[in-house]
Amino acid sequence: MKKPTARKQDILDRVRPLRDHDEREIQAFNAIAKLPIALAEHVCKASVDNLNQLIADTMTLRDMYKKHHWQVAGATFYQLHLLYDKHFDEQSEIVDMLAERIQSLGGISIAMAHDVAETTLIPRLPRGRQPVPVQLSRLLHAHEIVLLEARTMARQAAEAGDDGTNDLLVSDVIRTNELQVWFLSEHLVDAPLR
Ligand SMILES: [Fe+2]
Repeated sequence: MKKPTARKQDILDRVRPLRDHDEREIQAFNAIAKLPIALAEHVCKASVDNLNQLIADTMTLRDMYKKHHWQVAGATFYQLHLLYDKHFDEQSEIVDMLAERIQSLGGISIAMAHDVAETTLIPRLPRGRQPVPVQLSRLLHAHEIVLLEARTMARQAAEAGDDGTNDLLVSDVIRTNELQVWFLSEHLVDAPLR
């Protein structure tokens, strides 16, 4: 019997772009557009490369929060449903700050899900629903990846004289992630993961 769901090829066959989507770009992904910010191009490039890794991991962490917001189950459903969405909103703000920092350095930010999936260091999650202790464990692991790379990148930015990137990493990325780790970890006092 024919499945009553949309066939992907039927959709693609019936929808055509208004004009050809060609490969023209006004700036290549790895190129730096030199801006008058009193930083050498190689310093900007190093920060852009680091920040693109960090934004891929932050976008993944952000999306993990929405997945868990939707799929959480159990006695703590309501409080975690709300907490996960609060953390999602805070991670979304960090994503925007990271992307705009990359553009301010003359770089190009990673933006699309397929590029995020290829770049992130956070392990792929199953599509199905997982229990609360697994959700918390996965989130804490992802936070620790983000925090370790953010601390490393903050030191590198400071040594290179890129104070703006250092400030963003320390004041926004590190402090927000540390606070979120605390809020998650307090749910585990009765059942520690380690
Ligand atoms: Fe919601």
